[in-house]
Amino acid sequence: MARNPFTPTFGVIPPFMAGRESLVEELKAAFDNGLGDPNLCTIVSGARGSGKTAFISLISQEAESQGWISAKTTAAEGMLEDLLQQAVRNAREFVEEDGGRRLRGLSLGQFLSLEWENVQPEEGNWRTRMSTLLDQLASYRVGLLITVDEVNVTIDEMKQLARVYQHFVTEGRQVALLMAGLPHNISQLLRDDGISFLRRARKHTLGRIPDREISDALTATIEDAGKRISPAALAAAVEATDGFPYMMQLVGFHTWAQAVAEEIDVENAATGVELARNEMADGVLAYTYLDLSAGDKRFLAAMLNEPRDVPLARVAEKMDVGSNYASQYRKRLLEQGIISEPAKGYVRFEMPVFPEYFAERYEEDESLS
Ligand SMILES: Nc1ncnc2c1ncn2[C@@H]1O[C@H](COP(=O)(O)OP(=O)(O)OP(=O)(O)O)[C@@H](O)[C@H]1O
Ligand SMILES: [Mg+2]
Repeated sequence: MARNPFTPTFGVIPPFMAGRESLVEELKAAFDNGLGDPNLCTIVSGARGSGKTAFISLISQEAESQGWISAKTTAAEGMLEDLLQQAVRNAREFVEEDGGRRLRGLSLGQFLSLEWENVQPEEGNWRTRMSTLLDQLASYRVGLLITVDEVNVTIDEMKQLARVYQHFVTEGRQVALLMAGLPHNISQLLRDDGISFLRRARKHTLGRIPDREISDALTATIEDAGKRISPAALAAAVEATDGFPYMMQLVGFHTWAQAVAEEIDVENAATGVELARNEMADGVLAYTYLDLSAGDKRFLAAMLNEPRDVPLARVAEKMDVGSNYASQYRKRLLEQGIISEPAKGYVRFEMPVFPEYFAERYEEDESLS
């Protein structure tokens, strides 16, 4: 039996990444151009399950295939040391795997014999040790991509990294920085005056993916792994996915698992979608709900039982508050990636299944209070 190709787990690069092609291309071009390309410092934001970690992994792979070295970390105390060690390890591995092909002018033996002692903890501060490593990489014209996931500006080392990165750029070093985080953490990062240069970084939101591209990625994933999907089943899967990457993997995974035959039919899709919705609720929505303040909840409750795009004025009216007050909550919820602003003065639920999930939980909450 063919193996289920879907990846409904966090941080895994899916076999077909929907809707991110132009962004990936931009970054690939940046690694090619090197120094001075504005995309070398990029920040992506997105709700839980929008594909931030998978995107970082994919970009690191691309960078490596273009002769860069990457060092990946998550914002937390100890991240600087982690980055340095990763960079050293990957530099070694890279050279070994590459058989020295990319080492212009120096032999593999010479590279491997380089002692990394001078990047050991005792010697100098982090910037000094990283500079030493970058000097060595530079002599082989190898750049370093630093990635930081789960950006959190309350971590001091996060800010330290940003400041040192700026020095590296000023010094003309071949470095790149890719950061990802939840929208409100990214806005907090960009509001920090100590690292205001980051405001000039390229910023992207990993938002909703158009149905067309979801449809293509679902089809490609299924067919590449040796099954087919009927048009009606595909339509149901695309609709349930609602443009959300994690949901695409869940729907794909469960729909595939239902099908005994080579072709996934509409019944398989119906059951698969049901299972996917439940898992979406447990895996993502429950945590999203926990982050909501009382005001957030009242705002979202006012969006229920309305058309898909709800006028902000209507929300304010139902909340019985002024539009300025309602706007504050809109901003918070936009930052959390829970709602979007499809047009000026309108709001819309952004995550699939969330409206139903929210309605149910909110009712429970209300009946308890
Ligand atoms: N563009 C995409 N197309 C299809 N599937 C995707 C895409 N991006 C990510 N995925 C899948 O979606 C799921 C969630 O991705 P990922 O873990 O990267 O999300 P995240 O934004 O990092 O979430 P969190 O905020 O919880 O860390 C994974 O199963 C991944 O394989
Ligand atoms: Mg992640």
